[in-house]
Amino acid sequence: MWRVAVLACFVTMVFGGKAPTIDLNDGHKIPVVALGTGRGTAGAAPIDEVRDAVFWAIEAGYRHIDTAAVYGDEEQVGQGVADAIKKSLVKREELFITTKLWNDKHARASVVPALRESLARLGLDYVDLYLIHFPIAAKSDGSPDDTDYLDTWKGMEEAKELGLARSIGVSNFNATQIDRLVANSKVKPAVNQIEVNPTLTQEPLVSHCQDLGIAVMAYSPFGFLVTRKTADAPPPRVDDPTLVRIAQKYGKNAAQIVLRYLVDRGLVPIPKSANKDRIAQNIDLFDFELTKEEVAEIGKFNKNVRVIHPTGWEKYPNYPF
Ligand SMILES: NC(=O)c1ccc[n+]([C@@H]2O[C@H](COP(=O)([O-])OP(=O)(O)OC[C@H]3O[C@@H](n4cnc5c(N)ncnc54)[C@H](OP(=O)(O)O)[C@@H]3O)[C@@H](O)[C@H]2O)c1
Ligand SMILES: *[C@@H]1O[C@H](CO)[C@@H](O)[C@H](O)[C@H]1NC(C)=O
Repeated sequence: MWRVAVLACFVTMVFGGKAPTIDLNDGHKIPVVALGTGRGTAGAAPIDEVRDAVFWAIEAGYRHIDTAAVYGDEEQVGQGVADAIKKSLVKREELFITTKLWNDKHARASVVPALRESLARLGLDYVDLYLIHFPIAAKSDGSPDDTDYLDTWKGMEEAKELGLARSIGVSNFNATQIDRLVANSKVKPAVNQIEVNPTLTQEPLVSHCQDLGIAVMAYSPFGFLVTRKTADAPPPRVDDPTLVRIAQKYGKNAAQIVLRYLVDRGLVPIPKSANKDRIAQNIDLFDFELTKEEVAEIGKFNKNVRVIHPTGWEKYPNYPF
């Protein structure tokens, strides 16, 4: 028995980091916890924190980092990755790097050049996952554009064929858009990255994607748990009695319970932190699991309230929410 455990541990350390992986529909594997590096718009955290955060995350056992062209931090992500490789913590092939195409590069012919620019900033030859950040398209001045995401997807397929992205997917697509994309494309999206947390549990969209073999990454995984302390922010907060009870049972904290809730639903949460201790906590999730009842209990917080609700885009073609 111990031999198996020792071997499993060795395999994990060598290939998987701290989090297990799930299979994508194109044969690749995705580690089930990603470090978030998007720092929000209102009172955005400083960009300088990203390099250290990425390094600390890899040191703590993360193998998956989530960034985007629009975050403006691909260079800092690349530096953190390069630091970790230089210190022999990991090899490039053990990492899973996700980045995203912004709304103003949706023309089919713009996709590969935009990815090449991201790769140059990251200092990488390929990303593991390239996502269309939003189904809506915009001109470079931000005004609405009517480029169809089916055309954008053809550019994404070209990026995959060129080996610049191992896997391709989407973000913020709703069920109708997923169906239209699947019905009209050669390559099925491997991933849909959407907001999922206790106040936006998204059961219908999550099952829809999972039934189609599309993995779901959960952004803003903490919902209103720790930040966004407006008076009308819905529960749960970190001191919520339900979360505290479950946390005490497993010797974890409320943030870890929320992340494990997402993992137990087969999702890939993307906790953002720039704090060394919290970065380590957020991947320390694999020595316990929640019961079905606990998953259901946390699901009862659902209010269908979004943390990320872009205002001003409601009138754009393909607005998804
Ligand atoms: N595809 C999309 O459209 C989209 C949209 C939004 C976000 N995202 C991605 O998802 C990532 C995460 O989303 P998010 O940044 O909106 O929200 P989040 O990860 O739910 O929350 C981040 C906040 O939680 C704090 N925190 C982290 N770990 C904690 C812990 N263990 N205990 C207490 N507080 C903790 C962080 O502060 P500290 O840094 O001080 O720890 C930060 O203020 C983004 O970084 C980005 O990569 C994607
Ligand atoms: C998805 O978004 C499109 C475009 O705005 C809209 O027509 C459709 O009704 C939405 N579908 C769902 C399931 O929300």
